[in-house]
Amino acid sequence: MTAAQKTIHLADYQPFTHLLDGVELTFRLAPSATRVVARLAFRPNPARPGRHPLRLDGEGLKLLSCQLDGQPITPKTDKRSLTILAKDLPQGPFTLETEVEIAPDANTALEGLYMSNGMYCTQCEAEGFRKITYYPDRPDVMARFKVRIESDLPVLLSNGNPVAKGKGWAEWDDPWPKPAYLFALVAGDLKARSGTFRTFSGRKVALNVWVRPGDEDRCAYALDSLIRSMKWEEEVYGREYDLDVFNIVAVDDFNMGAMENKGLNIFNSRYVLASPETATDEDYARIEAIIAHEYFHNWTGNRITCRDWFQLCLKEGLTVFRDHQFSGDMRSAAVRRIEDVVALRARQFREDAGPLAHPVRPESFVEINNFYTATVYEKGAEVIGMLKTLVGDAAYKRALDLYFDRHDGDAATIEDWLKVFEDATGRDLSQFKLWYSEAGTPRLKVQDDWTDGVYTLTFAQENPATPGQPTKQPKVIPINVGLLNPNGDEVVPTIMLEMTRESQSFRFEGLAARPIPSILRGFSAPVILDRAVAPSERAFLLAHDTDPFNRWEAGRALAKDVMVDMVTKGAEVSADWLDGVAAVVFDESLDPAFRALCLRLPAEDDMAQTIHAAKRVPDPGRIHAARREMLGALSVRLGERLQRLYDNLDDGAPFSPDAGQAGRRALRIAALGLLTRRDGGKMASLAFARAKSMTESIGALSALLDIRQGAAEVAAFATRWVGDRNVMDKWYSLLISHAEPAEAAPLTVRLTGRDDFDWRNPNRFRSVIGALAGNHAGFHHRSGAGYRLVADWLIRLDPLNPQTAARVSTAFETWPRYDAARRRRAKAELERILTTPTLSPDLREMVERMLA
Ligand code: PHE
Ligand code: ZN
Repeated sequence: MTAAQKTIHLADYQPFTHLLDGVELTFRLAPSATRVVARLAFRPNPARPGRHPLRLDGEGLKLLSCQLDGQPITPKTDKRSLTILAKDLPQGPFTLETEVEIAPDANTALEGLYMSNGMYCTQCEAEGFRKITYYPDRPDVMARFKVRIESDLPVLLSNGNPVAKGKGWAEWDDPWPKPAYLFALVAGDLKARSGTFRTFSGRKVALNVWVRPGDEDRCAYALDSLIRSMKWEEEVYGREYDLDVFNIVAVDDFNMGAMENKGLNIFNSRYVLASPETATDEDYARIEAIIAHEYFHNWTGNRITCRDWFQLCLKEGLTVFRDHQFSGDMRSAAVRRIEDVVALRARQFREDAGPLAHPVRPESFVEINNFYTATVYEKGAEVIGMLKTLVGDAAYKRALDLYFDRHDGDAATIEDWLKVFEDATGRDLSQFKLWYSEAGTPRLKVQDDWTDGVYTLTFAQENPATPGQPTKQPKVIPINVGLLNPNGDEVVPTIMLEMTRESQSFRFEGLAARPIPSILRGFSAPVILDRAVAPSERAFLLAHDTDPFNRWEAGRALAKDVMVDMVTKGAEVSADWLDGVAAVVFDESLDPAFRALCLRLPAEDDMAQTIHAAKRVPDPGRIHAARREMLGALSVRLGERLQRLYDNLDDGAPFSPDAGQAGRRALRIAALGLLTRRDGGKMASLAFARAKSMTESIGALSALLDIRQGAAEVAAFATRWVGDRNVMDKWYSLLISHAEPAEAAPLTVRLTGRDDFDWRNPNRFRSVIGALAGNHAGFHHRSGAGYRLVADWLIRLDPLNPQTAARVSTAFETWPRYDAARRRRAKAELERILTTPTLSPDLREMVERMLA
């Protein structure tokens, strides 16, 4: 074990030895030899009495000089730090100045200062700043930054407000103290699409979306989303922006989605650039959500930051919750909620059920980058949603106002967050806190009873063991319930049942007949509902439930029941399901987006998870076949009416990315997919040729690939878009995700031989290797070729970009679900990865946890 692999524990937290009163940085940019001068004004931290050495983080830095209060010194350095002994430090304030040299052009990990297409950019969260200069690289050390950039490139950006610039230099000043992970610098030949925003107190803010020349015409939607986010944040949370400028920069080489650096958000270009020809409706929705997410971090993350990285959910859970609220307000709230729950189950429930399960607030880690997970983000957001449901909207608002008031400028903890809710409501939240400390998805068993005119719902919660947590305590679960009478009228509108014990009953009196319950409306808690329900009752709810989420959920549960029976008992496609879907799909009174969602079948991985949760072994090949058979049966059952639906949904209006039009396109494309199963691809080919938007092109292409057609269209698409990185990513992932199970790995091998398979680019790597991992039946093909190929590529990427390699490795997190032969093959690949010399701590930690 090297020092790099030490486990860090929440319980060991101590404040830093020193406080930092000011930071002045000078960058002399050069691709292979950038100089960074850092002047840091320190004083001893009264919270750490006694005399302490000063230990600064630093990795991969060439130290050129070091001065303490102007006197040259030779500090002790090693691979990870610079230390000045206590005896060599003044007792009061002092200034330390260092000069280091770094090589951005050799930085393939995309952490710290690196280059992308000739531009300089930074990524510092979580611990990248230490690759730029020696510094106390931890979120609870907050300071004011002044930055000077020297370079001949035309656009030079950093955090805060611009203060001065001349030929070959620019200076920035950020008045808001911040941790180093929010530092950013960009230098390049960039073009902006600009706008302005006037805040509610009258501050005029200049807005810029910076992109590579030629991409300016693809920024309008990002800019518009930013303006709407700023307005929404003022109206709903009462928070205004606090600088004169807000800059967004798009970069092609980026490990994650985007980054909330103060006043200078840096984005993966795929979440900025959009035009009707190049972006799908899904892309537009994602751009809107991520722009909002990063902007909302200005208050939840930047003004109030995290004390340490264990508190990551403090900023991420809350900011995801807020971006979900925003998207719900901008679009259809019901449709957004359904999409969010689909994603939660696909990513977070999957994580929670496997070897990588961890609490929303983990208690230890080796590499913090491995904890930017669905659990921290998505379950973290669900926990806040539950809190809001439990205390009510008015109390939530009071608590948030108190949070901003009390903690502005702080590096805070989950304890601080919960205390604000306790103080605002008088509630004791100690039991609620278990949601932060215990991993695993609770299972909620439900029984009902109707005796002497009294209806009783009895719930029992089961909290499964997870790695390191064999036993669990009962959680507080808000269960939203409504009751319908047999005619489909709502007799008890939604009420919240607050479950706090392991098992609990709730009584309903005064009902004329046994009601049909609608349980966990709006998905009021991230749990698995375990209740045997007759298909007829599910079909009834699909037809009548007044809660849109549960209406959709009834259809989804029915589809899952059908698929499980087909896979495990060789059953036929059920008529209840076919009739139920038909009724919804042709119901013109319903939102087309909602109808499209009801036509979507559960994903194969989701089915495997469901079968595994029922304590059976999923067979990927059979799941794939059953899903296909269901689509075939649906296409027959919906019949000729599909054609009319398809034709009527095209109103010939010019393209708009709004939710209404996107919903109609989604339904139309779903109809096309089903029609294509019967016409051999004639309509889909026509639709491809006439497509006016990327959504339609991809929709038609998907329909063709699903019936193993479309070779000409696939080629035409590649010819048209060969020069466009973001669009070609779609092409790669579309081909691989639609490949037949036995074909997926061989096709991936062929595609990785293409000249434009630039595997060092994280987006491209994910579109190809990630897409193979996401093709359930292909990745888990019994030949083991999928496992082998993904492992090969992880081993290859790891030395260059450990963060992305570690993230993609989660492809293997479900391996314990499958049969002995598959398990053996997957495990052998994981073990092979472990034997790789110089494996990164990132990938090593992931693989070791998956094998534990
Ligand atoms: N903090 C970023 C976000 O949630 C995500 C991120 C983490 C980006 C680490 C880069 C590195 O918006
Ligand atoms: Zn975030």
